Amino acid sequence: MMYGKILQFLVQVTTASVGATTAKNTYIIQMDKTKMAANHCQDDSTQTYQAVINSINEMSLQEDDQKQQAELLYSYETAISGFAAKLSSKQFQSLEKVYGFLSAAPASDMIIGILDTGIWPEHVSFKDTGMPAVPSRWKGVCEKGTKFSKSNCNKKLIGARVFFEGYEADFSGLAKGMARGTSYTSRIAVYKVCWRLGCSNLDIMAAIEKAVQDGVDVLSLSMVSYPLPFYSDLVAIGSFYAIKSGVFVSNSAGSSGPFSSSVRNTAPWKMTLAASYIDRSGIPASKFCLGTLNESLVKGKIVVCHGGNGSRYVKSENVKKAKGVGMILVNPKFQGDELTADPHILPTA
Ligand SMILES: *[C@@H]1O[C@H](CO)[C@@H](O)[C@H](O)[C@H]1NC(C)=O
Ligand SMILES: *[C@@H]1O[C@H](CO)[C@@H](O)[C@H](O)[C@H]1NC(C)=O
Repeated sequence: MMYGKILQFLVQVTTASVGATTAKNTYIIQMDKTKMAANHCQDDSTQTYQAVINSINEMSLQEDDQKQQAELLYSYETAISGFAAKLSSKQFQSLEKVYGFLSAAPASDMIIGILDTGIWPEHVSFKDTGMPAVPSRWKGVCEKGTKFSKSNCNKKLIGARVFFEGYEADFSGLAKGMARGTSYTSRIAVYKVCWRLGCSNLDIMAAIEKAVQDGVDVLSLSMVSYPLPFYSDLVAIGSFYAIKSGVFVSNSAGSSGPFSSSVRNTAPWKMTLAASYIDRSGIPASKFCLGTLNESLVKGKIVVCHGGNGSRYVKSENVKKAKGVGMILVNPKFQGDELTADPHILPTA
């Protein structure tokens, strides 16, 4: 049920943000699976949709030149039955005639408002290479703050507002490696509402209101509060009004427990999103022998691992994976001198 609602919102959101005037637009296309099966005998949906794209390219071969080839970007099986493609307007017209075509939503130029601790504008994720001009419907601004100047905004990072004095860029690094989103053409507007000691509800409400007025399509609220009934949870109420204004709201599920399955922000009108965990901090996780251990430090050694955080067996497994030869497992304070007989996979005291 909830899932259907989310999709409905997503479709509304994407439909509301009509694509830019570049030669090709990105679309999310829904296809009728039963009709597709009648059309094509491939089991693999990517092959099926590639065949659709190929036939569209053949149809438009006379009019469009080679550079204008339609491109398949993704095929979807779980979220929707369909695919994402880059198409010219003529190719789009051909697609509408394909047997099994249900609907298409332009998927570029979505404006995502992010309420968080701030942003690191120099990051490669905010490069605006190849992006079309900022949509004229955007009413937001790029405010100056400490360590943040108006020139930090570009065609990707289109807005920044601060809801407290003394801006402090706080997205320091995250994980190394390649970050990739499904919607690289989206625009980002940042609303800094969280500070070292947390986020104030007053700032959050002000930011939600401003973001809706500025014209965001999606609000990403990366914050958790104490669990409260919906009628006194200001973030839930603010999200409700944002959604009524046609803005899709995504909220973090939180990671403060007390159990691994505990979630916050469960108001049914917004999407509650959990992120996977990567060993980013290195040091506290290594102390507990969680995550990947550095082999050049561990190889051939007896490793001291702190308990009380994570499974005890996983610790010894991690030591073994990094070619350690033994483990000394240190009790957390609350366990005192208590001994637990665990079947570890390498010698452990
Ligand atoms: C568990 O580890 C995390 C970081 O990895 C740390 O923040 C937390 O305090 C640890 N919990 C205990 C009980 O030590
Ligand atoms: C592993 O430890 C070695 C020796 O201290 C260090 O040079 C190397 O950078 C570490 N590797 C990682 C990935 O931290």
